[in-house]
Amino acid sequence: MMSESETATDLSVMDLYNHLTAQGETVRNLKTNKAPKVDIDAAVQLLLKMKVDYKQVTGQDYKAGCPPVDGLVSIDNDSAVEEGDDQVDPWTVSTSNAKGVDYDKLIVRFGSSKIDQELVDRIARVTGKTPHHFLRRGIFFSHRDMHQILDAYEKQKSFYLYTGRGPSSEAMHVGHLIPFIFTKWLQDAFDVPLVIQLTDDEKYLWKDLSQEECHRYAVENAKDIIACGFDVNKTFIFSDMDYMGSSPSFYRNVVKIQKHVTFNQVKGIFGFTDSDCIGKISFPAIQAAPSFSNSFPQIFGDRKDVQCLIPCAIDQDPYFRMTRDVAPRIGYPKPALLHSTFFPALQGAQTKMSASDANSSIFLTDTPKQIKNKVNKHAFSGGKDTVEEHRKFGGNPDVDVSFMYLTFFLEDDEQLEKIRQDYSSGALLTGELKKCLIETLQPMITAHQEKRKLVTDETVKQFMSPRKLHFNS
Ligand code: TYM
Repeated sequence: MMSESETATDLSVMDLYNHLTAQGETVRNLKTNKAPKVDIDAAVQLLLKMKVDYKQVTGQDYKAGCPPVDGLVSIDNDSAVEEGDDQVDPWTVSTSNAKGVDYDKLIVRFGSSKIDQELVDRIARVTGKTPHHFLRRGIFFSHRDMHQILDAYEKQKSFYLYTGRGPSSEAMHVGHLIPFIFTKWLQDAFDVPLVIQLTDDEKYLWKDLSQEECHRYAVENAKDIIACGFDVNKTFIFSDMDYMGSSPSFYRNVVKIQKHVTFNQVKGIFGFTDSDCIGKISFPAIQAAPSFSNSFPQIFGDRKDVQCLIPCAIDQDPYFRMTRDVAPRIGYPKPALLHSTFFPALQGAQTKMSASDANSSIFLTDTPKQIKNKVNKHAFSGGKDTVEEHRKFGGNPDVDVSFMYLTFFLEDDEQLEKIRQDYSSGALLTGELKKCLIETLQPMITAHQEKRKLVTDETVKQFMSPRKLHFNS
């Protein structure tokens, strides 16, 4: 541990790093051995002070396992994370809190901004549209530079939208719909072009799947995305495996980004280790490239100044923290972001709905009967153990998965509020709440399946062909 007489500047950067690592170990040991609170608090205080010193001296955030490197430009890599904090990254979302991730804390940790009422009102004013209920209800809760997008838009300077999907399976789940439903609303409200990246390369690198399978899933997923109602004249959907090879402009941007991000930086942001394949290590550059307009010359010509707005759940933010850090260094505007909360797993809001656990998810291919069975059997309830207790004490909508799902999909604000009140008072039982959810989800998913059936191979081909789009610059 650093002695009292040593100051941060007396030590070499590597010494500081080693002291910090040792202090982190001390804190962990004290906690494991259930040491007195006062000792743990003192050790944590010292750890925090050492982190501040480290940042002052190195200009970098301390990250365990990532020693400092000379000349490294620091990227905000979620360094404020403390033990016991929620884990949120592109691969894992987990919290010990039954109410779900602490999103206010996440905003502070990630350094983004809250979508407050003022911003919601401003979006309504600028577009002349009633804000989508995802905005009204705080489902899209965080942003980066949205005011800048609106400032420019008010001066007739347009932007474009970019979002994506990693095609790891044929069937998408309802959680995946969230960013696409909202992106469709944004496209209509602002009348702007949209690019959708299908990262079949990412899934090939990360999963035990063949290239052919990943590419086939990309095309199948494109059908679900198209069924969300995107305008073919304003939307380009692309598979990385197809587009990268056919677009020199896109590839040039990938290489530019690769040249400006070090291995140490991606280790810090994504937690890659020495045994990860080199494809994974360079992949973030591929997810970053669509954030720059000259990656799409067929849409924007050689313009590199059209700003990009990315709607996604907040698990994807690490990719775009990296992108925003690189952008000014390669002469491009930083992309703006709108982040959503997670649609929870059926078993509870401690994790997000994920395709890798079939019982935790409602898929867009599920039948009405499967939906009913999954909700009745697996949806975590905030109700009491017996009807008598429930009537007397009421249920807890804050941890009840059926109620949470209704906040995403029941559009009528008054009906939702009545359900919340009745459930909390005990007037509405868990079975009745689940019935309400089932009756909301069944027609919604059947309607999606009907729309998907109408998406022909020819339509997919149209959306996926590089071409000019309507763009009022
Ligand atoms: P993927 O396929 O994991 O997720 C696709 C989109 O869905 C969001 N998402 C969710 N939203 C709410 N609740 C959930 N339970 C949930 N699960 C997933 C994700 O945040 C994402 O927006 N690497 C990306 C693909 C990608 C991308 C992008 C995503 C490439 N470029 C640009 C967003 C923006 C991926 O594997 O996403």
